[in-house]
Amino acid sequence: MVRGAKVRRLPAMDEMQRWWEQCHNTPDSYYISDYGGPSLWERMRISKILDRGAPVLEIGVGGGRDIRHLHERGLEVHVVDIIPTAFERIKGCFERVWLESELELLPDSYFGLAISHLVTQHIDNRTLTRQVSHVLRALRPEGVFAMQFADGLPPVTKEHYYESLGAKQVGDVLRTPQMMKELVRQCGGRIAWISKPEPYPDNDKQWFHVHIRRGRKRWWNALFPDRRP
Ligand SMILES: C[S@@+](CC[C@H](N)C(=O)[O-])C[C@H]1O[C@@H](n2cnc3c(N)ncnc32)[C@H](O)[C@@H]1O
Repeated sequence: MVRGAKVRRLPAMDEMQRWWEQCHNTPDSYYISDYGGPSLWERMRISKILDRGAPVLEIGVGGGRDIRHLHERGLEVHVVDIIPTAFERIKGCFERVWLESELELLPDSYFGLAISHLVTQHIDNRTLTRQVSHVLRALRPEGVFAMQFADGLPPVTKEHYYESLGAKQVGDVLRTPQMMKELVRQCGGRIAWISKPEPYPDNDKQWFHVHIRRGRKRWWNALFPDRRP
C-alpha cells in the first residue's frame, strides 16, 4: 500500500448480510430461489398492472429470473437487495440498484409496482416495517406493493411468533394475515387484496400473496410529515 494513502473502510457486514453473502457465493444454494416471470405474475395478480408500463421495484434478487423477465418486457426495473454481490447476477437488466440500507434514498411516488417474493420470511418485524414504509412512500398513489409472506400450518400465534437469527436464515419468520395487516397499517398502508392460502410443498407452512396500497392520508402524514402523498 502507498504510504499515507487513505483506506476506505466499508461498514462491517451484519450477521444476515454475511449469511446472504455466503448463500449467493454457494453454487445452487437452496436459499437462492429463482421464481419469476409470467407464471409468478399470474399468481401474484400483477400481470395487468405490469401492462401499464410504469417503473417496477423488485425486492430480493435471488437467481434474478424475475428481474430479467421484467427487463426483457421493456420495463424500467429498480432492484433492492441486502448485499451488493446479489446484483452481479442481473448485470445489464436494471436501471438502478439500491442496497437495503439505502431505502431512505428511494424516490417519492415513482413506482407503479413493487414486488417482494420469498423475502419477508427472512426479515424481522423492525426491518420489515422500515422496508414497507419506504416502499409505500416510493409508490405512486395508485401503485401496488405485491408481497408474498408465509404463515405456519396451523397458523402461528402471537405467543409463538419468533424472529431468531436461525429463523431469519432459513426463512421461518411466520406471520398470520392479521399480523401482516397490523404491520402494514403501522407503515401507513392497507391490504387491498389477499390470496387464498397456498400450501408450501414439503413442510408445515402456507403462503399468502397480498396487494398493499397506501392507506389513509392521516396515517401517511404522521409517518412522513414532510413528504405528502
Ligand atoms: C430466497 S431469495 C428470493 C428470490 C426471488 N425473489 C424468488 O422469489 O425466488 C431472497 C433474496 O432476498 C435478498 N434479501 C434478503 N434479505 C433482504 C432484505 N432485508 N432486503 C432486501 N433483500 C433481501 C437475498 O439476498 C436474496 O437475493
